[in-house]
Amino acid sequence: MNVILIGAQGSGKGTQADLLAGELGLPHVSSGDLFRQAMAEKTELGLKVKTYMDRGELVPDDLTVAMILSRLAMPDCARGVILDGFPRTVAQEQALDEGLHNVGKQIDLVFYLEVPREELLVRLSGRYICRANQHVYNVNTRPPKTPGVCDIDGSLLYQRPDDTGEAVQRRLNIFFSETIYLLDYYRDQGKLVVIDGNRPIEQVRASLIEAIQSR
Ligand code: AP5
Repeated sequence: MNVILIGAQGSGKGTQADLLAGELGLPHVSSGDLFRQAMAEKTELGLKVKTYMDRGELVPDDLTVAMILSRLAMPDCARGVILDGFPRTVAQEQALDEGLHNVGKQIDLVFYLEVPREELLVRLSGRYICRANQHVYNVNTRPPKTPGVCDIDGSLLYQRPDDTGEAVQRRLNIFFSETIYLLDYYRDQGKLVVIDGNRPIEQVRASLIEAIQSR
């Protein structure tokens, strides 16, 4: 099963994708995590995308599509995948459909996690992620057991540079003026399920699982 999570920055895509991936035994493929990993490893891709990421701008489609399609070609994605943060543009959406079609696959289900903008800003200002594996915490709603340290791998937590200052507003503006229109495409195909993301993490998770089971 190939599932996409669409939502504004801070809507809980990464949090829910991790939970779903664990429950369904599918890999969680996050374009943002892959870019951050490339930056941390200082690969050629990482050096190319850093300026866009720091400013909160979208990385160009050609780099993003190539990275995701090569990730989807890996053996662990054969049974399906939970996609988080991709696609975000019409060009990415079309490239994804074409890439899957070429190997006899398709997107099965698309979730939109709906959360009001004021709540998104609160969540992003409290988010910390771990250096080693990008596990996500929130000082207000999901604090680590030891402040500043990841419960899972013990690495230090840090605040993403694009979660502060102008970059946050820029990212939200891009979502609400561009990415949100991708929903029409999946709605027309009967694949879209809108989920109220403005509830506790466990309740959102339960709604996602219920929608998957009812398919
Ligand atoms: P990316 O890493 O994908 O960031 P994003 O889309 O900006 O999404 P976020 O990670 O901010 O939010 P999320 O929805 O995953 O929320 P989370 O679960 O962490 O992208 C970063 C950058 O990479 C982009 O700006 C761009 O430069 C580039 N990029 C990535 N994909 C691209 C693409 N396809 N094309 C071009 N460029 C691309 O939750 C947020 C916080 O809220 C956490 O602290 C969490 O604990 C908390 N929380 C979660 N759920 C709840 C809840 N229900 N109640 C209370 N708190 C909650």
